[in-house]
Amino acid sequence: MVIINPGNPSGCVYTYNHLNKIAETARKLGIVVIADEVYGHLVYGSNPFVPMSLFATTVPVITLGSIAESINKLLVYSPFPPTLIQGAIPQILEKTTQDFFSKTINILRKNLEICYDKLKEIPCMMIPQKPEGAFFAMVKLNLLLLEDIEDDMDFCLKLAKEESLIILPGVTVGLKNWLCMTFAVEYSSLEDGLGRLESFCQRHAKKIYFNRINSSRSANSCWNIKPCSWC
Ligand SMILES: Cc1ncc(COP(=O)(O)O)c(C=O)c1O
Repeated sequence: MVIINPGNPSGCVYTYNHLNKIAETARKLGIVVIADEVYGHLVYGSNPFVPMSLFATTVPVITLGSIAESINKLLVYSPFPPTLIQGAIPQILEKTTQDFFSKTINILRKNLEICYDKLKEIPCMMIPQKPEGAFFAMVKLNLLLLEDIEDDMDFCLKLAKEESLIILPGVTVGLKNWLCMTFAVEYSSLEDGLGRLESFCQRHAKKIYFNRINSSRSANSCWNIKPCSWC
């Protein structure tokens, strides 16, 4: 059984009880648990990160980590030859302090709040489940409120063309008419990107819905015109 905790792209962080049940289920089935915990250092919600290895007495556990994901994405995109990066790894492992992770987590938490607050102001979007780890948010698109946008793929293609802003269509991770957004960017780029996103949505909004929703929508209310599963 493979689990990804914290999840990508959901950002969900499993509780101790949930992981305990997974361990018990795997034990009954006689299978190993492979735990992808590459975002284990990047958790900022109410659920603390619980490593699957705590349940290694119940079931065999193989844990996957990633220096690139937990320390710095720059290692992945670095222009330097791999040998230079490989040479730096022992120092990185030995000398990266908890302080580094605390700072990163604070930046992610702040960026998520900025994203979350901004998306509340864009009627055709919402984050039903706030991420608690990693650096992605799944955003639900309400196409009823948009004109001339067919689906998430069409949304992202037009967004890239008109605003030079790249967002991953949800269909690429199995969720049609959702968007997979990352908020692991510099503050100024995040503000700029969210501004472009808002302009795009305003330009493509069905005017009748846009006016009605803007006048009636409170900060935490559902954006749908019709009753929906979020209400
Ligand atoms: C959940 C998860 N596991 C593993 C990886 C791969 O990590 P690496 O960049 O070290 O290959 C990723 C990369 O996006 C990921 O999101």
